[in-house]
Amino acid sequence: MYRAPRGTSDILPEEQGYWHYIEASARAMAQRFGYGQMNTPIFEQSSLFIRGVGQGTDIVEKEMYSFDDRGGDPLTLRPEGTAPICRAYLEHGMRNLPQPVRLYYFAPAFRYERPQAGRFRQHHQFGVEALGDGDPSVDAEMIEMAWQLMKGLGLKDLTLLVNSIGDAQCRPDYLKHLKDYYTPLTTQLCQDCKERLERNPLRLLDCKQPTCIALKQDAPQTVDHLCSECHDHWQKLLSYLQTLDVPFQVEPRLVRGLDYYTRTVFEIHPAKEGAQSALCAGGRYDGLIQELEGPPTPGIGFAAGMERMVLNLKRQGVPVQGENLVKAVVAYLGDDAKQTAISLASNLRNGGVGAILTPAGRSLRSQMRYANSLGIPYALILGEDEMKNESVIIRDMAHGEQQEVPMQKAVEELVRLIAS
Ligand code: HAM
Repeated sequence: MYRAPRGTSDILPEEQGYWHYIEASARAMAQRFGYGQMNTPIFEQSSLFIRGVGQGTDIVEKEMYSFDDRGGDPLTLRPEGTAPICRAYLEHGMRNLPQPVRLYYFAPAFRYERPQAGRFRQHHQFGVEALGDGDPSVDAEMIEMAWQLMKGLGLKDLTLLVNSIGDAQCRPDYLKHLKDYYTPLTTQLCQDCKERLERNPLRLLDCKQPTCIALKQDAPQTVDHLCSECHDHWQKLLSYLQTLDVPFQVEPRLVRGLDYYTRTVFEIHPAKEGAQSALCAGGRYDGLIQELEGPPTPGIGFAAGMERMVLNLKRQGVPVQGENLVKAVVAYLGDDAKQTAISLASNLRNGGVGAILTPAGRSLRSQMRYANSLGIPYALILGEDEMKNESVIIRDMAHGEQQEVPMQKAVEELVRLIAS
């Protein structure tokens, strides 16, 4: 039997309520903050991600779904949404618009990871990016949005972590301190971190191996090595967050797994879970657009994992409306009644009432069972008598009450009953 590929999943109709709830809530929130929706292709030129996300990252080294198409072009299924948004910003001359340009997206993302709870090979992100404004008030806006999103969904007991990782000016000095700290500890590092120490030492702070986590506790802190511009930006951000009453926690060794970040980074985690559980994560990336051959352009954003939000809504028992929009089932006995039932079901739908026909060839009792098993609140019944009388019985399935109404009045009466 075929199964969905490892690390992917089907989203069944009964799950859709959660997805629609998150989508509606996220979209409304983004619109309140002045963000417009942007869709980009599912695949891009591979070099966009290699340059954007960075050579030494897990995503580029181990996780991309890359292939040459039939014309020989190297393409990659989007592993994340920020680089494509920056590509589109440049391609569509958005730097000529008033800045910052505020964009949001819903997008599937593909990473060849080891699947586990909340970690998939295809996942879906709701993401937000503000391009063209480096002011710390935009960082505060972004963090406020991420927090509002989680709160608006009804999620509780969350931790918001923020840090500043400096920029091209001060990072080299920090990395020197970091290397000086880790070099005498090399033998205690995991194999990956031994290599990271040479190629991408910041990533040592992001390692999930218990021994490396223990070693990082005394590592130098990025915020102690910021240049004056980054320090000033960081201090202003903290004061704006205080003004906004966003309950943040400074995590001085928070770094991110993508190379494009500068200055502000942040993550929101559910309580009592490990470092791999971020519900949403993001930060500033002031060098990314230049890396993609654009002019110097600041940017900041975050993305929230849809599957992780669904998982946490379920764990926390947040009630979400189901999707059953069908209000009526049309039941019938005999071929003549079937013709009328087909037309009645159609009239109901045209009148705005979700309606389906029962499957053919069943007894009335079995047709009622069918309505019950689907949780449909009303059955409209057409038997011999009703055909003669040009009427229909409307049955309230929950209470067992029923009434006979003239056929012409059926839609009107059902609309009235549903509304009441
Ligand atoms: P990221 O931290 O790689 O950042 O992913 C963002 C969010 O997507 C994570 O916090 C998590 O909720 C979800 N996520 C990531 N990988 C998986 C996975 N394998 N399975 C399930 N969920 C996952 C980015 O992608 C950046 N582009 C975020 C950003 C936007 N930074 C600035 N702007």
